[in-house]
Parts: sequence; C-alpha cells; structure tokens
Amino acid sequence: MLSQRSVLITAGPTWEAIDPVRGITNHSSGKMGYALAHSAAQLGAKVYLISGPVCLDSPDGVFTTKIESALQMYQSVHQHIQKFKIDIFISVAAVADYRPAESAKQKIKKSNDELTLKLIKNPDIVASVAKLDINRPYTVGFAAETQHLERHTRDKLIAKNLDMIVGNDVNQQDTGFGSDLNEVIIMTKNQTFTLAKQNKSQLADTIITAISNNIKENIS
Ligand code: PMT
Repeated sequence: MLSQRSVLITAGPTWEAIDPVRGITNHSSGKMGYALAHSAAQLGAKVYLISGPVCLDSPDGVFTTKIESALQMYQSVHQHIQKFKIDIFISVAAVADYRPAESAKQKIKKSNDELTLKLIKNPDIVASVAKLDINRPYTVGFAAETQHLERHTRDKLIAKNLDMIVGNDVNQQDTGFGSDLNEVIIMTKNQTFTLAKQNKSQLADTIITAISNNIKENIS
C-alpha cells in the first residue's frame, strides 16, 4: 500500500536541559509514534524515525535517529527532508514548546529559597515543515488536548496548515501518554471521524490507511 513511499515520523518526548543532570520533559513513552513507524514499514514504506529519549527498541526495518532536544529534532527533521524524498511526515513527538534560555555547564547548586528559570520558545517543527515551498511532504500532526478536543484539534489543523491531524484527550486515565491504548479523532479540512479506544498498534494501522487513502488525492 505504501511501497515506494518514504515516511518520516517523530516520536517520544524532548529533553530540554537545565543543567547536566536536570531537564524539562513530559510523559510521552514513544509508543504511538513507534507503532506508526512499525505499521508504515509493514505496509512497504521506507520509514525514518526521529526519536526523543524513550525505552523502546527501533521497529524492524526502520531507520531510527535518536535525539534529545527540540532543536536537535528540528535540525534532524529538516536534514531528512533535504536528503531523502519524504512523501509523508507524521509529527507524533511531544515537543517541548519552551526550553531554558541557558543550560548551565555544571550542576546548579542549591542556595537560595527560589530559583527562576527563563524559558524561550522552541521552533514549531510540524508547522515549519507544512510551510515548505519545496519538497513539502503530506504533513500530519497530532494534538494532545485536555479539554475541547474537537475545537482545539481543528484550530491546530488550520493554524499549522496541516493536511491531517489526529487529536487525543490526554486527560484520560487509560489512554494517551504512556498507555498501550488510545482513542482519537482524525481530522482533515473536509472530514472528521472518531476511532474508539483500542490498542495503539491497531490504531496505527487505521491511521496509516487513512493517510494512504488521502495522499492518493493529494500527491501522485
Ligand atoms: O508517546 P505516547 O506515550 O504513546 O503518547 C502519545 C502522545 C500522547 C504523545 C501522542 O498521541 C500525541 O498526542 N502527540 C502530540 C503531542 C503534542 O506535543 O501535541 P501538541 O498538541 O502540543 O502539539 C501539536 C503538534 O505540533 C504535534 O504534532 C507536535 O508534534 C507538534 N509540535 C509541537 C511543538 C513544537 N515545538 N513542534 C512541533 O512540531
């Protein structure tokens, strides 16, 4: 179904260093992104996976690059797009929106009662890909929401100029971050449909099939 297609996927959290032993991160386990990479490879695609720090093995037949920070992920994504002809980009990674303005070279010593960290904005990786004039892949984002799932997911589809977005409610106990299960809505500019709670690997097959059906209308 995806033979002769190249798929680039980001997965996992990013790690934004405060000092050599501390950082800002989140609860992403990488399971959703790795399941999508496995599924796309099974369907015959050449798959490149750029992964933040997770405890998962690279899926068979997938070319995996490990990174830590959002800036490293940004650089790696754009290097892949320049070097390989990427047909589909799926941004599953939970990228930190902000990073410490400075990362201390040595461990910060406990001294004052308060410590103020200055944070600066990271680049929006998926939006930067969706903005490309040349070599723009079919671009799929994810939306991790804690309320108003449908409205916020649609807002991100439009604001980031995506071809498709997959929204999930990360406030639920047994889906979203870390779980083997997820429940999502898939949205394009013309269509919205819900996928009931199921295993991330089953969900990945359905999402990849939805992408594959959609690209037939968008790219030759
Ligand atoms: O890894 P798991 O434990 O399996 O959990 C799966 C998941 C909950 C992480 C996944 O299903 C998910 O929702 N991924 C998106 C997480 C996220 O960061 O969502 P967001 O709504 O903050 O970001 C919207 C989109 O922008 C995402 O495609 C994100 O990859 C992208 N983004 C965000 C910030 C940034 N600086 N650059 C980006 O590319």
